Amino acid sequence: MHPSRKPVMAANWKMFKTTAEAAQFIETLHGLLDGVSKDDMPTAVICPPYTALSTVSQSLGQLNLSNTVFLGAQNMESKADGAFTGEISPRMLRDLNVSYVVLGHSERREYYNETDAGVNAKAKAALENNLIPIVCVGESLAQREAGQTDAWVTRQVEAALDGITPEQRKKLILAYEPIWAIGTGKVCDAAEANRVIGLIRQTVGVAETRILYGGSMKPDNVEGLMAQPEIDGGLVGGASLEPASYVQLIKAAMPLNV
Ligand code: PGA
Repeated sequence: MHPSRKPVMAANWKMFKTTAEAAQFIETLHGLLDGVSKDDMPTAVICPPYTALSTVSQSLGQLNLSNTVFLGAQNMESKADGAFTGEISPRMLRDLNVSYVVLGHSERREYYNETDAGVNAKAKAALENNLIPIVCVGESLAQREAGQTDAWVTRQVEAALDGITPEQRKKLILAYEPIWAIGTGKVCDAAEANRVIGLIRQTVGVAETRILYGGSMKPDNVEGLMAQPEIDGGLVGGASLEPASYVQLIKAAMPLNV
């Protein structure tokens, strides 16, 4: 791994957890991180639903975890303010101490018609508002079987990063999430994930950009994935919902384990 790329272990809670459940998670996490070297920890990012952002922010503050575990959102609107019923702006996220935002997750692309142009506008708005985007890309099973993975993923990255400067590209994070591996228990072969992420890195054109793997990352497959030189961490759904398994993933991204 490039020395300037600090690993990232990002928890995507999707539409799970009430405020009470979120607070309980942080309390348990705090206990499990006792004795873990904070200096060696990857950047841990928790992305709860909007409704639990404030609770998680407060819990992290109360337990002195704010400099160790960071807050992320799962989406946002690109515009600053306005008549956009049901939407949340970058400024509103900053107001809740959010510092990361997942953009273009395949579930948003598939169920909420998110487009490459929309993801690009959101990535630019995030960077302008001091939020670090975690931009998701990845192919479907049909695309993989048709041999279209490389062309598809390259095009998604180019579209998402259009007009984003090399300086800004150093700050943002990408996540390679093959759609067929998300929530299915079918993890992508580590060497293949490494190969596609290497291709994404060439497309980004900047060595410092951190690129994560996502799709059924679990305690029993994380070590093989983290041993790959191109994989800088994970974007994790199912295995991030329990503090014990999330901590195992965090530990697997620490130097001794890599
Ligand atoms: P999963 O989800 O870990 O449950 O496969 C990953 C994601 O959707 O980000």
